Amino acid sequence: MQTADRLTKIPPYLFMELRKKINKAKADGIDVISLAIGDPVEPTPDSIINELCRRARHEENHRYPIDEEKGMLAFRQEVAHWYHSRYGVSLDPANEILGLIGSKEGCHHFVLARINPGDIVLMTDPGYPAYRASILMGGGEPYNVPILAENNYLPVFEDIPTDVAKKARGMFLNYPNNPTGACATRAFFDRLADFAAQYDIAVCYDNPYSEILFDGQEPLSFLMAAGAKNVGVELNSLSKPFNMCGWRLGMAAGNPDLIAAMSKVKENTDSGIFNAIQYAGIYALKHEEKSITHMLQIYAGRRQMVLKSLSKIGIFFDPPKGTFYLWVPVPHGMTSLEFTNRLFDRTAVVVAAGTAYGQYGEGYIRVSLTVPDDRLAEAMKRIEQEFT
Ligand SMILES: Cc1ncc(COP(=O)(O)O)c(C=O)c1O
Repeated sequence: MQTADRLTKIPPYLFMELRKKINKAKADGIDVISLAIGDPVEPTPDSIINELCRRARHEENHRYPIDEEKGMLAFRQEVAHWYHSRYGVSLDPANEILGLIGSKEGCHHFVLARINPGDIVLMTDPGYPAYRASILMGGGEPYNVPILAENNYLPVFEDIPTDVAKKARGMFLNYPNNPTGACATRAFFDRLADFAAQYDIAVCYDNPYSEILFDGQEPLSFLMAAGAKNVGVELNSLSKPFNMCGWRLGMAAGNPDLIAAMSKVKENTDSGIFNAIQYAGIYALKHEEKSITHMLQIYAGRRQMVLKSLSKIGIFFDPPKGTFYLWVPVPHGMTSLEFTNRLFDRTAVVVAAGTAYGQYGEGYIRVSLTVPDDRLAEAMKRIEQEFT
């Protein structure tokens, strides 16, 4: 069967390829430890599960959740409350918030809502691979903006050629950044909002790691910048802070015109989010901040464990303060892929090669801390043995 041309442009999704490789090794009886994927292994807190079960028993929640096409008003109100209490950002639940089936869905809807065929969309390199896929599926042209260690992994707007900026209609960014772990600053948000306003570029600020922070880093939202709501939307999600990746619950917030346009795309795509999940999300946002603190302690311990092991094999670096990933420089004289392959072939530890996130990912691997402590310790033991 001949499938659509648009799909041929999309590179294979990194994690699908990795999963195939891991499954094959496991089938061969190898004890593989994957540090490649950012999917917390700890369960969703019990209280959130209980709320889901309770709400799932109400038959009015079994019907299409389309009465309120932007997501339940009560969910949007809770998101507004969360944004106000965490970031000091005021949002109108009526027209500035849209419930999503995870923030990944929002990336796609942003493109369909804003980008016309042939439009340039800026994205960072290294960057989250789903942006490229969404841009290409929507008929846009991705343009890679390098983010380099010497600039704290933030884009330098002055380096983007003026003719490209003039043609760009959208831009994807995310800080705390996947894959580098870098965090943005308020001053950067101001520069981003000014740049976007100058060239009429709609910003899709993807912020699902907004709460995954270390060493006293303050939680930030792009919407804190004056003018941010004029130029874009922020995506966020319950996946990472509440170990709810499988639940598929997130939100877009910001510019009312973009929210309305994304809502129109969504209405015509999926008919909304199961109400019981939205109720559970309300409960999480209202009552489970403590579980975020708990998870951050766990990740902080794992971070230290990995940093200590890496220092034993001669890899030293000052890790950025966000996300549950470490963006690790590879040993001198090796490429990202060579190091990744050697880890896999000799230790059965899987990491993501930096180049999977773009050409500027060369020289790095990404290590995820979302594995149980004992498995991480075992992975580190194997790596130490291999490289010392
Ligand atoms: C930068 C980034 N955006 C979006 C997502 C998707 O998150 P969600 O589960 O909210 O769709 C991820 C997941 O890893 C991510 O790293």
